[in-house]
Amino acid sequence: MKGIVLAGGTGSRLFPLTKITNKHLLPIYDRPMIYYPIQTLVDAGIRDIMIVTGGRNSGDFLRLLANGKEFGLKHINYTYQEGEGGIADALGLAEHFADGQKICVVLGDNIIEHDIREAAEKFQAQEAGAHILLKEVQDAERFGVAEVAGGRVVGIEEKPKRPKSNLAVTGVYMYDATVFDKIRTLVPSHRGELEITDVNNAYIEEGTMTFSYLQGWWTDAGTFESLLRAANLVAQSVIAKQSAVRV
Ligand code: DAU
Repeated sequence: MKGIVLAGGTGSRLFPLTKITNKHLLPIYDRPMIYYPIQTLVDAGIRDIMIVTGGRNSGDFLRLLANGKEFGLKHINYTYQEGEGGIADALGLAEHFADGQKICVVLGDNIIEHDIREAAEKFQAQEAGAHILLKEVQDAERFGVAEVAGGRVVGIEEKPKRPKSNLAVTGVYMYDATVFDKIRTLVPSHRGELEITDVNNAYIEEGTMTFSYLQGWWTDAGTFESLLRAANLVAQSVIAKQSAVRV
């Protein structure tokens, strides 16, 4: 399975922090934000990785990450999203890289505590379709929200005013190669973007969407509150690991 980190967009919710740099280069405790989704893929055993970025600071990704030596990689692929046409638009740019294989997509601002290896293995064994990871949250209206019935996801609503559940769709998505055909059928949402939720709903309608629950903590880092929360959660984990080593 190949891995894709989506790190395009303008990060307008973090302005002025993002006035002169890309959101995914901002620090989360002791590492730049983009390190975390890359590590998530590497920890899942994925070594063939593409970064989709954009904006005026895209060259900084190359300077920061180079060929991925810090992650034990020999090479990283890069591509460029013009404008911010949405998450599904950014993913569409990876079709050539995916080359017909299954893919695991991680949003560049999603930070998770544990690894996703089990879910990745489950999806590898799945003949076709897609797999998403859900997490119970207090503020579901900020996310894609899944409705689960009879052990299946029956629908996802993007940032609903009245969420039908407290299950957020995290920014870790696993897809078969038909994802790119599905992206081609999308039309921009009211916010002018090609929505990943529409892609996921296409799999749900097809009856090929499976899911698991993400273990451990999870946060995005795209707002001032969540950026701070992400840094605090990472700091707590790092400090806890350091004291466990000392004992
Ligand atoms: O964090 C999980 C949530 O991410 C999901 O629950 C939602 O269903 C999904 O739509 C998304 O919601 P956000 O509104 O928080 O996504 P945001 O616009 O902040 O974009 C998240 C990442 O996706 C961003 O860090 C980089 C990438 N992205 C986004 C856009 C709009 C791109 O690469 N290109 C883009 O054009």
